[in-house]
Amino acid sequence: MDQAQSLREYMHRYNVQMEKRKPSRVVTITSGKGGVGKSNFTLNFALSLQSLGKKVVILDLDLSTANINILMGISPRYRLLDVLFQRKNILDVIEKGLGGIEYIYGGLELEDLLRLDQRLLAYFVSQLEELQNYADFILLDTGAGISKELVEFILASDETILITTPEPTAIADAYAVLKTVHQFAEQSPKFRLVINRAQSYAEAVETSKRMQNASSHFLKIELKTLGYLLEDSHVRKSVKLQTPFLITFPNCTASKNMKQIVYSYMPDLNGIPTASSKGIRGFFEKVLLLRKSL
Ligand SMILES: Nc1ncnc2c1ncn2[C@@H]1O[C@H](COP(=O)(O)OP(=O)(O)OP(=O)(O)O)[C@@H](O)[C@H]1O
Ligand SMILES: [Mg+2]
Repeated sequence: MDQAQSLREYMHRYNVQMEKRKPSRVVTITSGKGGVGKSNFTLNFALSLQSLGKKVVILDLDLSTANINILMGISPRYRLLDVLFQRKNILDVIEKGLGGIEYIYGGLELEDLLRLDQRLLAYFVSQLEELQNYADFILLDTGAGISKELVEFILASDETILITTPEPTAIADAYAVLKTVHQFAEQSPKFRLVINRAQSYAEAVETSKRMQNASSHFLKIELKTLGYLLEDSHVRKSVKLQTPFLITFPNCTASKNMKQIVYSYMPDLNGIPTASSKGIRGFFEKVLLLRKSL
């Protein structure tokens, strides 16, 4: 990178930071069952938010099968902990993918953070603060299945998008996530449901009603549905091309569904106070506190 370019980059980042008022919104994307479409959702949701002028950074916290970078066609050079061990600035470990999507490969165990001495932890927190000023949204792509870690992530984030397909096994596993988190939370965390791979809108509506009824009846959780994505062969084709479907097939059904999801997400957001949100810094602080107490 030449000097002029790095100066431009710096000024851009500086301006973004100066204009920022609210801390970034931390959104966890998860599911009960694996392979229901979390990573594809995260990537294309990020692109859609970005197209509406939002600054989005994807943080890959899927430790077992971190692979969103494959969907983006990039191999990460850094991981989040390089901020500490290589004294990198957090904005320098952001990888850029197609469509300008920004991504940080987590590749960390929470235990790694708990072992840090005070000085390093303070440095890490200061770097998170920088990321917080930089991004409007931080999307956390997680692994499937209920783990202690996942519960901590859900409790610490501003909201969680829970993805399921209409398959009874996926629905049961999604419900199990709600139930487990409910046991630990004093206040019910904010969940929004996305039905993926439905064969028809009728099937999607039916699936979301089943989930909503079960969660309001048994858990007293009011589960809002964020939207639906139909089964669409273009998704698989895009995965093979290692390019998000919103870029390869902007007019395919899945892309139209995704745009619809983001349109309904944005106005809905305006009604939610973000003052209590402490952004990604607050997220990690809460996760570490929970790790000590859960
Ligand atoms: N709407 C859709 N229509 C058709 N196929 C889809 C759709 N969504 C996802 N898929 C298929 O499901 C596969 C798995 O998707 P993805 O990798 O996003 O799931 P995941 O939940 O992140 O998986 P993991 O739990 O392993 O992280 C994709 O490679 C794609 O083939
Ligand atoms: Mg995934």
